[in-house]
Amino acid sequence: MSRTSLSVVSDSVTARAPSKVNLHLGVGPRRDDGYHDLVTVFQALSLHDDIRVARANEMSVTVRGEGAASVPADDSNLAVRAALALADWADRSGKVAIDIDKTIPVAGGMAGGSADAAGALVALAALWKLDIGRDDLATIAAGLGSDVPFALHGNTALGTGRGERLMQVLSRGEFHWVLALARDGLSTPAVYHELDRLRDSRSGECADDAARDLLRRPDELMQALASGDPHAVAPLLHNDLQPAALSLQPTLRRTLRAGIDAGALGGIVSGSGPTCAFLCADETGAVNVAAELSGAGVARSVRTASGPAAGTRVLGADLRH
Ligand code: C5P
Repeated sequence: MSRTSLSVVSDSVTARAPSKVNLHLGVGPRRDDGYHDLVTVFQALSLHDDIRVARANEMSVTVRGEGAASVPADDSNLAVRAALALADWADRSGKVAIDIDKTIPVAGGMAGGSADAAGALVALAALWKLDIGRDDLATIAAGLGSDVPFALHGNTALGTGRGERLMQVLSRGEFHWVLALARDGLSTPAVYHELDRLRDSRSGECADDAARDLLRRPDELMQALASGDPHAVAPLLHNDLQPAALSLQPTLRRTLRAGIDAGALGGIVSGSGPTCAFLCADETGAVNVAAELSGAGVARSVRTASGPAAGTRVLGADLRH
């Protein structure tokens, strides 16, 4: 009598990873290790990257979609570093083909590289059927970059430390955003460096009291999020990196103004920029703001998105029986 093997092997797994916007980004003084302590409220958005991993004879990465040409296809790619870090944890060879389908703008302040790293971790953990807990995954994520743990987590969260320590924030309902993508990217270290320079030129060393103020928890914003009212959230959007991003790309002032003129409730540079994110009253409002912003010629392209979105998750696997 012949027997049919019931074992199922996945040849490839695809994970979807969200982008993010910082609704509040308080940045403390530069630390001795070059990083800055943060108090931030992240919201994951529906704009996402899809990361497919497949068994292969050697490590490779291909990138398609938004800004693909400027994403490195070597070991410096954050998804490759994620794959190698997980392979190291699992004590296996990192022979996988990684295929990234990008929608998140590259060097746009929306954690696109972090999303790709989170996608690689989740997809590979599924492909390799690893018994890895959330804490171990989050520790590996934090070693890859400050925003990678949040890309895993998704939803709305308070981030402290470098941004890697997370606490879930209650957020009611759905928020509707318009994203204005800039023509050129901004380097995150360059924006932090510009912030340090602007602060030093204003007041010399950051006084201890002022530093504590910078890192105050945004309780009012968290209450507004719990109420689910975008009119209450909009005036509380805040980003300490915004002056630095505007200093490096002064044309962003025009983009921010154009979004408000188009009817957005509030607008902010997303993270280290240069993407500008506009909070709208509802979905129809977002579609109208997006149409008007597109016509204003202040952005390379304009997208609508909603939040909070889920954290990085497996979309599906191609199975071989
Ligand atoms: O952690 P990640 O590699 O994403 O950080 C990129 C750069 O952004 C760091 O090298 C540092 O210059 C800056 N950064 C910072 N403080 C943080 C997060 C990032 O200064 N909390």
